[in-house]
Amino acid sequence: MQVRMLTAAGYGFISALLLSCSIHAKKLQKAGSPQGTDCTQIWKLTPQASSGVYVIQPAGVKTHFKVYCEMRLDGGWTVFQKRSGGNVSFNRKWEAYKNGFGNQTRDHWLGLKKVFLLTKNKSMKWTMRVDLWDHEGGTAYAEYKNFRLKNEKAAFKLHVGKYTGNAGDAIRGAYPGINQDGYSFSTVDRDNDGCSPCIFGDIAETECALSQGGGWWYSKCGSASLNGEWHPTGEHIGWSSGLHWLTWKPPAPYSAKASQMMIKSV
Ligand SMILES: *[C@@H]1O[C@H](CO)[C@@H](O)[C@H](O)[C@H]1NC(C)=O
Ligand SMILES: *[C@@H]1O[C@H](CO)[C@@H](O)[C@H](O)[C@H]1NC(C)=O
Ligand SMILES: *[C@@H]1O[C@H](CO)[C@@H](O)[C@H](O)[C@H]1NC(C)=O
Repeated sequence: MQVRMLTAAGYGFISALLLSCSIHAKKLQKAGSPQGTDCTQIWKLTPQASSGVYVIQPAGVKTHFKVYCEMRLDGGWTVFQKRSGGNVSFNRKWEAYKNGFGNQTRDHWLGLKKVFLLTKNKSMKWTMRVDLWDHEGGTAYAEYKNFRLKNEKAAFKLHVGKYTGNAGDAIRGAYPGINQDGYSFSTVDRDNDGCSPCIFGDIAETECALSQGGGWWYSKCGSASLNGEWHPTGEHIGWSSGLHWLTWKPPAPYSAKASQMMIKSV
C-alpha cells in the first residue's frame, strides 16, 4: 500500500514536471513563430492587439522576422523607419540599409530586403504612410497608394501611386524634374541617384547620399530625405543633411524632430 502511494506521488510529480515543461515549450514556440503575414493581418485577426514587436511571415516567403506593428484605428501598420533622436546613427552603408539596424521599439530601419519581401506579391496592394513631427508641436502626414519596392538586383527601386495628405508630395518633389518615384536606393557606397553631376547654384554635386546623408531613393536629389542626420531643436534649419520633407516647410531645409514610415496592406 505504502509502495503504491509512493509510486502514485512519484507519478504525479513526474507528470507535473512534464506538464510544466510542455507549457514552457509552447510559450517559447509562440514567441518565435509567425503571428501573421504582416501587421494588417494581425490587426484584422485581433483588433484589440496593442502596438509592439510581432513576428511575421509574409505570404509566399520562407523566412519569418520581427517587425514593430503600429496598431491604429485605421489598421495595423508595419513600421520600417522611425526617428526620434540622435542615438541611432543613420549614417550607414548599403549592407546596413539592406538588412536593417536599430532597436525596433525605438529608432530603427527595418531593412530594404524585408520591405521588398512584404511588397513583392503583385496581387497585394500596400499603402505607405509618412508621419512627421516638427519642433513646434505640430504634425503632418503623407500617404501613398500602391507602394512597392523592387528586388536587390534593381537596387530596391521605389514605386508609389496616388498621394494624399497635408505634408505635400515630397517624393514627387517641390518642383519638376526631381521625382523620386522610379528611382533606386542610394547609399554612400552605392550611387544610384540622378546626379552626374547635379548643379545647385554654384555647387556641383555627384552623390546625393554624401551631402543629404544616410540612404534614400535619391533622384536629383529630390525633396524627400528622412534618413539624414538628426538635428536637435534650435539647430534644425538650414542643414543639407537632415530629416527633410521639403514640400512641408519651405524654403530653408527644415529638419523634422521625428518621423515614421510604415505600410499597411489593403
Ligand atoms: C499573393 O497574395 C494573394 C492574395 O493575398 C494570395 O492569394 C497568393 O497566394 C499570394 N501569392 C504568393 C506567391 O504568396
Ligand atoms: C538615448 O540615449 C541616452 C543615453 O544612453 C538615454 O538616456 C536616452 O533615453 C536615449 N533616448 C532614446 C530616444 O532612445
Ligand atoms: C530595445 O529597447 C527596449 C526598450 O527600451 C529594451 O527593453 C530592449 O531590451 C531593447 N532591445 C535590444 C535588443 O537592445
